Amino acid sequence: MPKIISMINWKGGVGKTTLTLHLAAGLALRHSKRILLIDLDPQCNLSFLAIGAGAYIDHTYKNKFPTLKTIFDAYFDRSTINASDVILKKRVRASAGRVFTNVDVILSHQELTLLDMKLAREKRSGRDHREETKFEIEKISIIKSIIDSVSDEYDYVLIDCPPNVNLVTQSAFFASDYYVVPAIPDFLSTVGIALINQYMDQFNSDYQSMWGYSGLAGSYADTQFGGIIFNMVDEYGEGPKKGHRGIINNLKAELGDSAIFKNYVTDGDGVSTAAEMNLPVFAHRDLPRAQQNAFKQANYLDNVVDEFMSRIG
Ligand SMILES: Nc1ncnc2c1ncn2[C@@H]1O[C@H](COP(=O)(O)OP(=O)(O)O)[C@@H](O)[C@H]1O
Ligand SMILES: [Mg+2]
Repeated sequence: MPKIISMINWKGGVGKTTLTLHLAAGLALRHSKRILLIDLDPQCNLSFLAIGAGAYIDHTYKNKFPTLKTIFDAYFDRSTINASDVILKKRVRASAGRVFTNVDVILSHQELTLLDMKLAREKRSGRDHREETKFEIEKISIIKSIIDSVSDEYDYVLIDCPPNVNLVTQSAFFASDYYVVPAIPDFLSTVGIALINQYMDQFNSDYQSMWGYSGLAGSYADTQFGGIIFNMVDEYGEGPKKGHRGIINNLKAELGDSAIFKNYVTDGDGVSTAAEMNLPVFAHRDLPRAQQNAFKQANYLDNVVDEFMSRIG
């Protein structure tokens, strides 16, 4: 069974997409893990980063290759779709001229935003309230069902979520074993983090009771907190610079030391240069510039990946 992890933060620009891609790359490169990436954000940033924006446009718009949207369309049409139809293999870029053989991806689609409203309106009437609850759970299980059907093919499924809560995002939370919160050491970006945990606690308890009431077999397993990963940290000497350290320590005081990854990722132009080339920083040798910074960030990311494995298993 793979470990399924949603990368979430209600804030944009904190590194959700960057960390999703690099966790996958690190787990695949150094630990030989098999990864499925799911891009849940209609902004399609992970899709662009993973295979290249041009390739994405050809693939999705020209060649009409299925995406995450196709999975939801099948639900509305009451047709069936196989995971193998939507999972793209051997296309995620590892270095210049090489792709990952063990990182697959389900691409996103811009129209996922429209789909959410459609999903919200879709109410299947049942014989009674109990049966309607069962239908609600089926609706939220769309992503879970796809993952379940390929569960023996992967060690990790990493889901890059958009910075908002809608039914599409909720279906990712529902499918996940863990949620991990990327954050930047900035006051406004950290004040909201406690609210994410509160939201997820409520989400878990709602689905615990709904599942129980629905009469479905089995039970709902809570989506557990995997921790906060700080990104874009500036250093001074051995650790984060004073202002950043203060913010990280305040959050530790609020949520407990164990809530926060000991390892973090530094700010630097390695990540952005690699992104321009649609590469992870681990391919620092292939970058036209910022090689040294990419090398440094790759080392920090290696440590984050190791800690991720010891926390999540
Ligand atoms: N550690 C980092 N150092 C420098 N730039 C970064 C770093 N992490 C992310 N970025 C850049 O910051 C921007 C936002 O990151 P992204 O991963 O897209 O955030 P999110 O998915 O949370 O919106 C991107 O342009 C990305 O390349
Ligand atoms: Mg993103």
